[in-house]
Amino acid sequence: MKTAREHFGSRLAVILAMAGSAIGLGNIWRFPYLAGQNGGAAFIIVYIVAMLVLALPIFIAESIIGRRSGCDTFGAMRKLAPGSKWRWLGLLTVITPMILLGYYSVVGGWSVDYFFKACAFRFDGNTEGLFGSFISSTWEPLFTHSVFIVVTAAIILLGVKKGIELFTKITMPLLFALIVFLVVYSITLPGAFKGVEYLVKPDFSKVDINVVATAMGQAFFSLSLGVGTILTYASYVSKKENLLVSAGGTAFFDLLFALLAGFAVMPAVFAAGIQPGEGAGLVFDTLPFIFGQMHSVLGGVVAILFFLAILVAALTSSISLLEVGVAFLVERGYSRTKATIGLAFLTWGIGIVCSLSFGPLAGVKILDLSIFDFLDKLCSNWLMPLGGLLFTVFVGWKMSKADVRDEFTNGGTRNVRVFEFVYFLMRYLAPVGIVVVFLTNLLM
Ligand code: PHE
Repeated sequence: MKTAREHFGSRLAVILAMAGSAIGLGNIWRFPYLAGQNGGAAFIIVYIVAMLVLALPIFIAESIIGRRSGCDTFGAMRKLAPGSKWRWLGLLTVITPMILLGYYSVVGGWSVDYFFKACAFRFDGNTEGLFGSFISSTWEPLFTHSVFIVVTAAIILLGVKKGIELFTKITMPLLFALIVFLVVYSITLPGAFKGVEYLVKPDFSKVDINVVATAMGQAFFSLSLGVGTILTYASYVSKKENLLVSAGGTAFFDLLFALLAGFAVMPAVFAAGIQPGEGAGLVFDTLPFIFGQMHSVLGGVVAILFFLAILVAALTSSISLLEVGVAFLVERGYSRTKATIGLAFLTWGIGIVCSLSFGPLAGVKILDLSIFDFLDKLCSNWLMPLGGLLFTVFVGWKMSKADVRDEFTNGGTRNVRVFEFVYFLMRYLAPVGIVVVFLTNLLM
């Protein structure tokens, strides 16, 4: 028995939910570093082009599949390509987000922990070794990982409108307000200018094929592509909405947030006289050190706001991942409650192993990588691009052009003039772009 599917209430709700998925840890701890390392403004230009010609077309392809079918990823493939092998793509894009959520929620747990620590004014200048000993301990990260999963599941339990829509409607404006405040604070610190320079000073000599592939990979990850999240959210988008507008709006906010995050983080890093690093260390090691250096109540408050922002950004992404699996199970006849609880336990379990791989299970290696790193590489470098490639090939080559046009143009009433161009991108350029990313990952 199928119950009626919920829909997002408005265009704004769609964009906020999708932007919530897109804006996440990738924007805060990877983009600023990549931009600085790879040529500043030159990288940002390459990144914008990668978004326009690679990520946006795939975003639109996923949106078309999602809204056309009105189904979860697996159901979508069965509906639009009945009896074909494409259903394996539907299955792949249910499995990948569950693995991704498993380790993403470990990092989500770290941000819970650091938010608590900030609230307790723990960043008092003496944070040396704090992060290392925290993640390699057994129980504390497991506890906060569990909290993160429970909150994610609670939002999903409430449903599409009362859960995802309401949560993102409240938190996304808050997130932007927080980051704008942090930017203002950060760029007014003495010595902050070097950080601004690091981000924007154009150095075109750094741009090579590697940098282009990095930009494409980052654009892809940042827009949450290839794991069925956009597809699933699009299945809740009403037929009246303009898919080009929701895709463009999401990409715009995602890019804006990445830039703002850069201007919030890097000037503070340079003002403190530190060399910027990448990844977890930048956020969980460097920033607490900087907050501690301030020796002031303001430093303590800024720390709270910073980790609140990171936590919110992580949560609005994690709910989009869990929803992919829940939509899949609900379509197979499970209740939303059962589906959510079951998958919460599954991803909690994956997360436990990932979390322990920093401590007691550190000796366990897969292809020379810790379990956490292995799953991260597997998803970001392989399964996500593979999912994205197949989605865009599905729309460009398997679906009939008339159907694609119908969905993209809302029955010939919108976006008619850009259709041919977007179709060309989905059919040719985007697949080629992903293959370039693959090859670079393979050869590097
Ligand atoms: N886009 C998110 C980020 O930048 C990560 C993500 C990927 C979320 C895929 C959902 C799906 O952190």
